[in-house]
Amino acid sequence: MEVRKAVIPAAGLGIRFLPVTKSLPKEMLPLVDKPIIQYIVEEVVASGLENILIVTGRGKRAIEDYFDQSPDLERHLTQKGKHDLLKIVRELGELVDMHYIRQKEPRGLGHAVFCARKFVGEEPFAVLLGDDLIYHKSPCLKQMLTLFTQVQATILAVQEVPPQDVNKYGILDAQLIQPGVYQVNDLVEKPDPAAAPSRLAIMGRYIITPQIFELLAHTPPGAGGEIQLTDALRELKQTQPIYGLAFEGQRYDVGDKLGYLKATIDFALTHHPDLKEEFTAYLSQITAKL
Ligand code: UTP
Repeated sequence: MEVRKAVIPAAGLGIRFLPVTKSLPKEMLPLVDKPIIQYIVEEVVASGLENILIVTGRGKRAIEDYFDQSPDLERHLTQKGKHDLLKIVRELGELVDMHYIRQKEPRGLGHAVFCARKFVGEEPFAVLLGDDLIYHKSPCLKQMLTLFTQVQATILAVQEVPPQDVNKYGILDAQLIQPGVYQVNDLVEKPDPAAAPSRLAIMGRYIITPQIFELLAHTPPGAGGEIQLTDALRELKQTQPIYGLAFEGQRYDVGDKLGYLKATIDFALTHHPDLKEEFTAYLSQITAKL
């Protein structure tokens, strides 16, 4: 089987980023001049997938508008002869075949993924969370797709986190079977650090087999009263193998203020050569004053 479709759940409330997320989806927060969700979409495209479903919710219209065409803006840029900007704006609407569905209530990540069942059908599919940004010259999803061709099974992207952070993530109980690849025995959502089976945390990228939908249909609310994808994956593990991939790349939790600030600075320095010199000088100047 081949993975052809990607689902980006983006219907969460973004409580950690209030008040801005009251009316602006956190996925639309910019890293310099591009919204976070564009980097996620670019990762999908660079990994070779062409069908994307974004799960949106109330107050998330800005995401659809962003990837839509904007005739007025394009006319204005043409008239002003701003051809470089025109190219950037046009390419956005042509990036990929984009679909949308609304999750009527934010009932949890598991429920958001369940909303994608008709779009996905009977195929393995990718899930990329809108608040985890992973940067590497070989995109994280591409690394996972390479492993998928070998194992043809559910794969979770993982990275080790410090012991004090295990209670923020889904954590694996797993054994290393080849460099960077783990066979999963069990998973637990946000464990107490003392009881955590490892420090291998799931990092917002999944390839999942379609049998997950039958399980999500009856997964009861778990941690935080939300329908947890981890709980359904745990059940899936009873009937199918699941693998963890320790991917290569720098990961940013851009749904968190500190993670977002780190990503903003790193992206300004690495993706914007025009800003680098003056911005570095400015950073040295302000850090010298601290
Ligand atoms: P988070 O729990 O990190 O996102 O969910 P959140 O709820 O938006 O953020 P905080 O914690 O309140 O600040 C992980 C991902 O799952 C999506 C979110 O949009 C995010 O990308 N999600 C979560 C949904 O799509 N629907 C939900 O009901 C919950």
